[in-house]
Amino acid sequence: MQSIHLFVCTGLACALEGAEENLEALQKGLQQYNLKRKIRVSLVRCLGQCGYGPSMVVYPEGIWYAKLNEDDIAKVIQKHLIEGKAVTDLSRTPLDTEDSL
Ligand code: FES
Repeated sequence: MQSIHLFVCTGLACALEGAEENLEALQKGLQQYNLKRKIRVSLVRCLGQCGYGPSMVVYPEGIWYAKLNEDDIAKVIQKHLIEGKAVTDLSRTPLDTEDSL
């Protein structure tokens, strides 16, 4: 499996929309599928996409996910992290960070 690194925003705007609940769902899902040692998760304070939170980016592909909820997290785990297919209906092209400020 290729090394995967998730950047999960837990900043204020995303937290107000459920980022902490999403993070809990993500951690449980990674544990459930025995992925915790294969996928690095970094928490960030802001991805510059505050109007589209909760936000997350998956590398190395650089796929940005927006407005995620706990059900969406389950889809991203199953489709993207396990099957290797980006969930296109949840992804979006990020704004330039200057546009989001
Ligand atoms: S607080 Fe999450 S993108 Fe800004």
